[in-house]
Amino acid sequence: MANFATNYMGLSLKNPIVAGSSGLTNSVKQIQQLEEAGVGAVVLKSLFEEQISIDTNSVMNTGNEQNTYPEAEDYIQNYTRMNSISKYLELVKEAKKAVDIPVIASVNCVNASDWSNFAKEIEAAGADALELNIYELPVDRNVSADSYDKKYYDIVRMVKRKVKIPIAVKIGSNFSNPVRVVDQIHANGASSVVLFNKFYTPDFDLEKLEFTSADVMSTPLDIYPGLRWTGIIKGKLPKAQIAASTGIHDGDGVIKQLLAGAQVTQICSTLYLNGFDVVKGMLTELESFMKKWSFENIEDFRGRMSYRNIDSPAIYERSQFMKYYSNKK
Ligand SMILES: Cc1cc2nc3c(=O)[nH]c(=O)nc-3n(C[C@H](O)[C@H](O)[C@H](O)COP(=O)(O)O)c2cc1C
Repeated sequence: MANFATNYMGLSLKNPIVAGSSGLTNSVKQIQQLEEAGVGAVVLKSLFEEQISIDTNSVMNTGNEQNTYPEAEDYIQNYTRMNSISKYLELVKEAKKAVDIPVIASVNCVNASDWSNFAKEIEAAGADALELNIYELPVDRNVSADSYDKKYYDIVRMVKRKVKIPIAVKIGSNFSNPVRVVDQIHANGASSVVLFNKFYTPDFDLEKLEFTSADVMSTPLDIYPGLRWTGIIKGKLPKAQIAASTGIHDGDGVIKQLLAGAQVTQICSTLYLNGFDVVKGMLTELESFMKKWSFENIEDFRGRMSYRNIDSPAIYERSQFMKYYSNKK
C-alpha cells in the first residue's frame, strides 16, 4: 500500500488532496462528508475582510474605502450579512470537534488593517492554519506593480505578528514576477502559497448587452498556468511550499502537480461537478501511479519534474511554446 502521508505547513495530512475553500466547506455536515470521502484537509469558506470590519464596527482607515474585489460585493450583499463572524468562529470550533483532519480557516482580504485582530480569534477557535485569500485588481495607473505587491507582504507580516498558526497565502496569477512575489511572501512569514485562485470574471450577454458572470467552475484545461508556475517556483525556490489550485479534476491532475513540486493539491470545481466520491477515484489513480513507478512515498517523486530537476528547464519557458506554434502546420 502506497504511503500518501504529507506534511503541509507542519500539519500532518493523510494524503495531499485538500478540499479548497468554497460553499462546500461552509457547514460541519459537508466537512464531515468530505473527510469521509477521503480528503487530507479542508479549507473553510472565506470570511471577507469587509464583513469583519462591518461586524466589528471598525471601519477601515486605509484611505482606500472602495471595495476592489467584485466577488466580495456580491458575497456581502447576498450572503455574508446574514452570517456573523461569531458564526464563523462557531464553524471553526464545531468543525474541529467533528473531524480529525486539519481544518484551515480562510479570510479574504485586501488591506493590512484592523481586521487582523480577528485572526487571533480564529486561532483561539482552534483552526490549524489560516489561509489568506488576498486580491486587489491593479487598475491604478499611478501605482507601481511593486506597490501592489507590497500590500501582500504587509498583510502577511501583520497577521504573522498576531498568530502562531501557519499562514498560507492564496494569490492570483497576474504578477509581473510570480517567483519574487512567492519568495517575498515566504520571507515575510507565510508557510505556503496557494497557486492560483480562480476569480469571479465578468462576461457580456450579447442578447441583452448586459453584464453576466463567466462560469465559476474550472475545467481540466485550467490546470496549465498553475502547473507551469508550480514547476518553475519549486525549482527556483526549493524551500517554498506550494498548494496547487485550479483545474485539478482527477488523479492525473493531482499527480502532475505533485511532480511539478506541489506540497498539496486543492480541489473545488470537481467536487461540485463530480460529487465527493471523486476523491476516492483520485486516490486510486495516485496509488496505481505510485505502484507502476515503484514509489513508496510522495517524497519519492515530489518535484521530480520541477524546473530544477529536469535536463531542459527551458521547456517551462515561453521560447519552447513559440517553437511549437511555428512548427505547427
Ligand atoms: C462556488 C465557489 C465558491 C468559492 N469560494 C471561495 C472562497 O470563499 N474563498 C476562496 O479562497 N476561494 C473560493 N473559491 C475558489 C476555490 O477555492 C478554488 O480556488 C477555485 O475554484 C479553483 O479551483 P478549482 O479549479 O478546483 O475549482 C470558490 C470557488 C467556487 C467555485
